[in-house]
Amino acid sequence: MNSKNKKAKKAVRLGVNIDHAATLRQVRGGSTSYPDLLEIVKLIKKAGAHQITIHLREDRRHIQDHDVIRLCRKSPLPINLEMAMSEEMLAVAVKNKPEWVCFVPEKRQELTTEGGLDVEAYSETLKDMTMTLNQKKILVSMFIEPSLVQVEASAAAGAQAVEFHTGAWVLARGPLKNKLWKDLVTASLKAHELGLKVHVGHGLDYDHSKKIGKLPHVREANIGHSMICYSLTEGLFKVTQKMLKALNS
Ligand code: PXP
Repeated sequence: MNSKNKKAKKAVRLGVNIDHAATLRQVRGGSTSYPDLLEIVKLIKKAGAHQITIHLREDRRHIQDHDVIRLCRKSPLPINLEMAMSEEMLAVAVKNKPEWVCFVPEKRQELTTEGGLDVEAYSETLKDMTMTLNQKKILVSMFIEPSLVQVEASAAAGAQAVEFHTGAWVLARGPLKNKLWKDLVTASLKAHELGLKVHVGHGLDYDHSKKIGKLPHVREANIGHSMICYSLTEGLFKVTQKMLKALNS
């Protein structure tokens, strides 16, 4: 195929998950003026990111209610609000009107979102909640494992997108890694066929992001933990210099 005939591939949008910045703040009970989440959003917008992702968890371990209110009012980037499918969270979303809601499973004891949502098992509730959100002009995605059953259930629930949980694929080694990649490809093709946008997220680092950008029809990646960790090694040099200057000014 020559370059003229080659269809220009759409750039993959980057949603930066800033929960991990809020975690650092909450370690001190939210008593510090840093990190300022809105300043972070302005910075990542300047760098070219397309949206921010925040997860208001039931236990409020990182993002707080006041963050959702402030960011939904003032963020210069669209907001993707991850949340459990509860009436409490539905009310928060309807009140604050993020651009997207991403339904995720939630267990109190988990370190992070450990698996995809079983959309098939909760199809009626998710269909009703999706309709309510869509009526408020909020788009909906379902955070699911790359499985055909879950893709079909997401389409039936009226979602606009699916976000494939990439965590298992990132951690897998050997033949399992190839198998999980094939599952992602198959599920992506099905999602596209059913008119769903394809988003991905969880555990993505630089190396896996290179590969996931080649997944058929992928439109968006939501990435957090690796980016906040990389920021330490890629940013601490400058901060050390500034702190030495402050101490000796
Ligand atoms: N997408 C969803 C739905 C998530 O729950 C998370 C983790 O909070 C992410 C993306 C980002 O994952 P990570 O922080 O591992 O990059």
